[in-house]
Amino acid sequence: MKDAAPQPTLLADYAPYPFTVTGVDLTFRLSPAATRVLSRVAFAPNPARPGRHDLRLDGERLALLSARIDGRAVTPAEDAAGLTVAADDLPEGPFTWEAEVEIDPVANTALEGLYMSGGMFCTQCEAEGFRKITFYPDRPDVMAPFKVRIESGLPVLLSNGNPTGAGKGWAEWTDPWPKPAYLFALVAGDLVAVRDGFTTRSGRKVDLAIWVRKGDEDRCAYAMDSLRRSMKWDEDAYGREYDLDVFNIVAVDDFNMGAMENKGLNIFNSKLVLASPETATDADFERIEGVIAHEYFHNWTGNRITCRDWFQLCLKEGLTVFRDQQFTSDMRSAPVKRIEDVLTLRARQFREDMGPLAHPVRPESYIEINNFYTATVYEKGAEVIGMLKRLVGDDGYRRALDLYFDRHDGEAATIEDWLKVFEDATGRDLGQFKRWYTDAGTPRLSVSEAWSPGKEGGTYTLTFHQKTPPTPGQDVKPARVIPIAVGLLNPNGDEVVPTGILEMTEVTQSFRWEGLATRPVPSILRGFSAPVVLDREVDAKERAFLLAHDTDPFNRWEAGRALAKDALARMICQAAEPSHALIDGLGAVLADDGLDPAFRALCLALPSEDDLAQTLHDAGAVPDPDRIHAERLRLEAAIARRLEPALERVYAAMATPGAFSPDAASAGRRALRLACLALLSRIDGGERAAVLFETAGNMTESAGALASLIAAGRAEGALAAFHDRWKGNRLVIDKWFALQPALCAPEAAAGVAERLSRHPDFDWKNPNRFRALLGGLSANHAGFHAASGASYRFCADWLLRLDPVNPQTAARMSTAFQSWARYDDGRKARVRAELDRILATPGLSRDLTEMAGRIRGADA
Ligand code: BES
Ligand code: ZN
Repeated sequence: MKDAAPQPTLLADYAPYPFTVTGVDLTFRLSPAATRVLSRVAFAPNPARPGRHDLRLDGERLALLSARIDGRAVTPAEDAAGLTVAADDLPEGPFTWEAEVEIDPVANTALEGLYMSGGMFCTQCEAEGFRKITFYPDRPDVMAPFKVRIESGLPVLLSNGNPTGAGKGWAEWTDPWPKPAYLFALVAGDLVAVRDGFTTRSGRKVDLAIWVRKGDEDRCAYAMDSLRRSMKWDEDAYGREYDLDVFNIVAVDDFNMGAMENKGLNIFNSKLVLASPETATDADFERIEGVIAHEYFHNWTGNRITCRDWFQLCLKEGLTVFRDQQFTSDMRSAPVKRIEDVLTLRARQFREDMGPLAHPVRPESYIEINNFYTATVYEKGAEVIGMLKRLVGDDGYRRALDLYFDRHDGEAATIEDWLKVFEDATGRDLGQFKRWYTDAGTPRLSVSEAWSPGKEGGTYTLTFHQKTPPTPGQDVKPARVIPIAVGLLNPNGDEVVPTGILEMTEVTQSFRWEGLATRPVPSILRGFSAPVVLDREVDAKERAFLLAHDTDPFNRWEAGRALAKDALARMICQAAEPSHALIDGLGAVLADDGLDPAFRALCLALPSEDDLAQTLHDAGAVPDPDRIHAERLRLEAAIARRLEPALERVYAAMATPGAFSPDAASAGRRALRLACLALLSRIDGGERAAVLFETAGNMTESAGALASLIAAGRAEGALAAFHDRWKGNRLVIDKWFALQPALCAPEAAAGVAERLSRHPDFDWKNPNRFRALLGGLSANHAGFHAASGASYRFCADWLLRLDPVNPQTAARMSTAFQSWARYDDGRKARVRAELDRILATPGLSRDLTEMAGRIRGADA
């Protein structure tokens, strides 16, 4: 029997909850397979919803043992999603609801609600996991102070807020700040703490602790340091202080996401806490710093001010991503961070926005909210705030944010509230700007230029035209306001007009500069000032000029990237030879020791195969994954041959002798070193990589060398040695699982993944391990899209296997299929068959049904 189709939730249907909650008291009697949860919730009529209303509480998979209202037993009507007490059975004024339920944390493999990980109890409640713990109005606009008592024989018992009592076998926690249920957390286990402290600028002493399993204490120092720097930064940059006496972080091995901002008790995927030079790469360190900051910053943007409903998710996530990006650019290199963020935006968000999963930054309907924690909500949500800041200026931004914190502290707010503080603080009308939140799709911006010389100097005109392709459910796209940062250079590379922001508001609009001595070279969309695709035919000479001379580092990198894309497109489509202009331009950057090594490393990396496939598709071609792969390899080999001496010199010069330091400068040197190695490995058969693998003293170089060896097809011994050395370390073994399918030859990828899936270490119920293997395979563009369809089948098989166990992670991983409509009919038919097979499976989760259905819709 097929279940009834799940009903979408609509933004338009929002209504306030009929009751307010003035206090929550919870008691947990922990037991792995039979935990008792006692709740006492004080309700009062909500003046925003006059009249008498039923009491509706969310609840899933709970065994209700008893229920009372004001001490009197009641028998609510239960269904699969919760329970209802009829209005007639409720007192007229405030009342207290009491219930006892039993839940089974061991059986909870979905990792949502209260579950077990490695012998410890932990929770994940966002978005709608609290309803798997007890009956409650599980929605973010119901905020209340919580008191929690935990009873358990385990030594460490943690919850939100401040500790307010403890004895043998119990502990009590009190969180004075009203919060929605999704920020509730509980942890109990045999854990050890790494401790430190922080004094806020008003003098509050905060005890900081990172809780890990015994043996992991020596890998917490970087996370702790990042936390302290985050706390300081939020005071300095936003005037935001911490507001409790303790701040706890717990690392867990089984976690669907990266990390979670529960009030005073952040819970982290252990891969985003634990790091040592031997086990973590530079990229891991940077990610840990950023995610620690992100979750900490949620204390104000998310927790003190939360979201009215889940449609407003970008209100906390887009803003908090923007804030963590600002933090990282302050801690490290701003231009390098900007390039990294744009690379992620294009790889994840543009791809989403151009395919069947496109949706607005603020969606208007969803079936399963967990499917909307997307690159669009997060990364585009952050870009939209960056544009706002560009339009109102730094001062305007600061005033608007101060007003936001003042006006909405303690509230559950909306995007309308957010835009209103900007309007009130700056006097600007943001009516048109709001389209960035409501309209899906990536605008394409085309440009033409005109030059007319004159006696008083020439006039230069740029004419822009914007067009946003239709997205599912949104055919018509009115013009948006687009901040376009432009600077002008003269032909000898001097900047004649410094960066200014052009505010485009029309479909077609021209901007003029007068009195110029010579025809300038424009540098358009500096710093990637808006998340758009810039369509501009530029010849290789001008791109090479900008790669050599642009004073805006982002556009300097962008010029090299465009040059590489053009060259590759010609190699793929017209059998052209590798471009000497490109190689020599890259050679000049490589050899320029005045440039930041991290920046040089980014310039040396060619566009990804997936990026090239999208570019070719946009140009009206049908991308051939094998050809893209082969030509990209051929270009890398040509670069390596022509630049070998310089690559060799820089490779040697970028060694980082002495003790390992994860700082940005050292990491940049290693990044450049490994970029040189990757290219050299294309012509030396992996000779140098083999030497580095033997001698590497840190994980960055060890994993980097291993990656080059896999790509060179001579990694067998190294893989065995690596596994043998690290078999006790889950996080390092995840790398071992990810690198092989990601970097092996495309024709081998499905087989490699298949073999790894039978490895005794393939603990597929662990989300990190599952993502390592399937994410690794789908990162191998030509391997994933092998014409045989073997990888498609492998992925579909595993999604179907995981779905009943952990639907959230299965649904997330199904995005591997999202770009299928780009390819040829043969491949499309194979993907369609797999999606149909998934969709026809009886009992498929709501999560995967929604995702596979939306992806399938692409080319129905
Ligand atoms: N609030 C989220 C975690 C979350 C997301 C929980 C979805 C439940 C469902 C957290 O703040 C977050 O955004 N985490 C990111 C990392 C962050 C640095 C972007 C994550 O987990 O990937
Ligand atoms: Zn977040």
